Parts: sequence; C-alpha cells; structure tokens
Amino acid sequence: MVKKTAVAFLIGISAAYGGITGEDAKKDPILQGKLLAKHCAWCHDIEKNLIAPPFRVIMERYRNVPDDTLRKQLFQSIKFGSKGKWEEWMKKNLKLKMGKLDTMYMPAQKPYYNDEEINKIINWLMTLKKEETVKQ
Ligand code: HEC
Repeated sequence: MVKKTAVAFLIGISAAYGGITGEDAKKDPILQGKLLAKHCAWCHDIEKNLIAPPFRVIMERYRNVPDDTLRKQLFQSIKFGSKGKWEEWMKKNLKLKMGKLDTMYMPAQKPYYNDEEINKIINWLMTLKKEETVKQ
C-alpha cells in the first residue's frame, strides 16, 4: 500500500515538471497567459533579442507607468499592432539581416486572439514588470 502511494506521488511530480501543460494552465490563469504568449515567440523571447524587443525589456521600459495606463497601452499594441515605438531600440540592439529596420513593426494580433486571451497575456506580462521592480 505504502509503495503504491509513493509511486503515484513520483509520477505526479515528474508530470508537473515536464513544462506547462493545458492542465497546469487550467489551474493557474497566469500560466494560461504564458502559454498563449508562446505564439508570440516567433518574434519575442522573454529575455533574448530575436527580431523584436524581449518582453523583459518592454516591461522594464514601462516600469514606472501606472498599471492601469500600461494595461490599456499593451492592449492597443497587441490587438492593433505597434510601429515606431521601438525603432531606435531595435536599430541599436538588433542585428537584423532581413528587410529594412525602419519597416519593422508588429502586426495586429487581432486575427489570432480574442480580447479575453489578450488580457490573459497582459496579466502574465504584468508579472514580469513586478519581478523587475523587486530586483531594482
Ligand atoms: C511578426 C513579429 C511579431 C509578433 C508575432 C509579435 N510581435 Fe510584438 N512586437 C514586434 C515588433 C517588431 C515590435 C516593436 C514595434 C514598435 O517599434 O512599435 C513589437 C512590440 C510589442 C510590444 C510593445 C508595444 C508598446 O506599446 O511599446 C508588446 C507589448 C508586444 N509586442 C507584445 C506582443 C505579444 C503579446 C505578441 C503575441 C500575441 C506579439 N507581440 C507578437 C513584433 C512582433
């Protein structure tokens, strides 16, 4: 009896460490946002420079913007796209070999995500802002 319980416990643990699953996300709304944001990873990593500013860098820039204002701005940028705000940063930090830098922009994500999903992603992004504030 005791043995069986121990085995079941171990299986439970290894599954939970195998990356975020749909099951984990159901229990944790913040993880849901992170899971949805995996599709943004074509262009944005959390930490690394890909072909767009990393999420950590974006949230660092807006660290002093009040949460309500920032949520509205992020919603606009994600739903309808963004252009020009990161042009200087991208010129300086990204070594793009494709296309012209000054035509780089973020396409509207409206066709891929509904408002509820966008808000879930924003809830997750806001946790990056908080982490950054604590570190400073
Ligand atoms: C095709 C590449 C691409 C994809 C896919 C993409 N982005 Fe972006 N994103 C960019 C670029 C490029 C910028 C910089 C735009 C600018 O200069 O204003 C940007 C900027 C942003 C910003 C900063 C906006 C601001 O107001 O400063 C946020 C937040 C953001 N993206 C979130 C997301 C999220 C969340 C997703 C997925 C739902 C996503 N992006 C998908 C390329 C992309």
